[in-house]
Amino acid sequence: MTNACGCGSQVDEQQLLIELDKVLDEYQGKEGGLIPALQIAQGLFGYLPDNVLQRVAAAFDKSYSEVAGIVSFYSFFSTQPRGKHLIRVCLGTACYVRGSKKVLDAIKKELSIDVGDTTKDRNFTLEVARCFGACGLAQP
Ligand code: FES
Repeated sequence: MTNACGCGSQVDEQQLLIELDKVLDEYQGKEGGLIPALQIAQGLFGYLPDNVLQRVAAAFDKSYSEVAGIVSFYSFFSTQPRGKHLIRVCLGTACYVRGSKKVLDAIKKELSIDVGDTTKDRNFTLEVARCFGACGLAQP
């Protein structure tokens, strides 16, 4: 398994699972502890693979589908490995009318990837968003 930092060093998955169990011990039973636990888990693994979701679900006494539903709701969670750098292009209305689709197309062409994909060197992942709350910064 490659380290979450993308540096290419080998990390023992068993060691990461031990670290995850420490996090789950700390957060299980805490009000609102599921989201922070998932965030830390994603930081450890670089994404949230099925075996991690199952472990988190068990720790919080929830079903796998319930935890997977939460993960799919929040865009900052990913069940797929991401690149070292995450590129997110806003396609919200204000940005779209000011040309963000052209920006997105240029990035797709430059990196030879589509939305949701990661470059082969695992340096970049391309995603879109609907609004960052910075609509006033959109430039034509
Ligand atoms: S529409 Fe792009 S930041 Fe709001």
